[in-house]
Amino acid sequence: MDLTPQQLSQYNGTDPSKPIYVAIKGVIYDVTTGKSFYGPGGAYAMFAGKDASRALAKMSKNEEDVTPNLDGLDEKQIGVLNDWVQKFQAKYPVVGRAALSFNFYATSCPAAEFMVSNTVRSATSADPTIPGKLLRLLFHDCFVEGCDASVLLQGNGTERSDPANTSVGGFSVIDSAKRVLEIFCPETVSCADIIALAARDAVAIAGGPEIAIPTGRRDGKVSSALNVRPNIVDTSFTMDEMLKLFNSKGLSLDDLVTLSGAHTIGVAHCNAFSDRFQPDSKGKLTLVDKSLDTSYAEELMKKCPAGVSSSTTVNNDPATSFAFDNQYYTNLLAHKGLFQSDSVLIEDGRTRKQVEAFANDQESFFRSWGESFLKLTTIEVKTDDEGEIRRSCSFATTN
Ligand code: HEM
Repeated sequence: MDLTPQQLSQYNGTDPSKPIYVAIKGVIYDVTTGKSFYGPGGAYAMFAGKDASRALAKMSKNEEDVTPNLDGLDEKQIGVLNDWVQKFQAKYPVVGRAALSFNFYATSCPAAEFMVSNTVRSATSADPTIPGKLLRLLFHDCFVEGCDASVLLQGNGTERSDPANTSVGGFSVIDSAKRVLEIFCPETVSCADIIALAARDAVAIAGGPEIAIPTGRRDGKVSSALNVRPNIVDTSFTMDEMLKLFNSKGLSLDDLVTLSGAHTIGVAHCNAFSDRFQPDSKGKLTLVDKSLDTSYAEELMKKCPAGVSSSTTVNNDPATSFAFDNQYYTNLLAHKGLFQSDSVLIEDGRTRKQVEAFANDQESFFRSWGESFLKLTTIEVKTDDEGEIRRSCSFATTN
């Protein structure tokens, strides 16, 4: 049995009818007999439903260490981890493996991650808008049918053909990376992994945090435009509507605030925020959304007057457009959130404090970004026969 991080998290002891699982180095153990340690209220309850390799190696109970990522551990810590493996093997039955793992391609295609980051880097040096496109592409992939590259499939009635995806870009970068990978490692690296890695690299190239993400996703065979609208957030959504959708993907209110920070890079077409203005009788735009800073609103109306071309765009972050930083949160506090769904984050008492904290401390935003991004990239990941490794990212290989 292969379990995705999301599936594993269901065995965290909160449902008494289910066993409790803990994974170490990608192997999942049934630790139900050790309920007093791993069950609710137990001293190691934070490990339940997770791969706790790093935490065990470091003998740490910090939430941020409860991850399979072993980057930067020293020899002694790896030794401690291997002792834990032996203890678990002696005490608890193995029930399966983690579907995703760090360095999944270590033997099958060791240069896979390097090839993706090289492709993203050269595409970005030719076109600085690429990081924004790749990051949004990931969001639209993962929220509809999970992170399975279903957004890339071409054809009538696919996700890609839905109007909500018209302004999504970055496809050619994924295709370029896949072309290179097919030469060196044919039919090995999934398009779903390429999207996730490319978005991860895009953030780092734009100055954001460098993070390790697990790989091993498989490509989906299903892609329907009908699935797009019910799963993609609209700028007119209330906080409760956004939260409901995020929760349905296993993401929390904190993840919503953190991942919205993606709007610190990239662009938006004028029609994406036209609901904040209204033309008067002479066709001149006026501000209807009074929560917006008036000089910022003037600037937006100048760039996007009534009747503007549908291809005109403005930068999401008017101050540091191409830098992945915490400026988005500073903008929000100055009432310069571009979409209504951005402004809501400071108007709602449940999220304002988090916005203030991120505006004051970029490091804390980056730390949270690492955690929330990891969750985003593992939404409803496909395993085994649920997916395949496509030869071309635009078309399913088998039906
Ligand atoms: C929370 C609700 C969200 C809403 C309502 C929303 C909505 C939008 C809209 C309307 C655009 C402009 C698209 C265009 O006109 O071209 C946009 C751009 C963008 N969004 Fe979001 N978004 C949300 C969350 C996210 C998340 C979670 C991410 C990624 C983690 C993300 C990443 C981006 C990026 C990077 C861009 C710029 C795209 C580009 O430069 O081509 N957004 N978003």
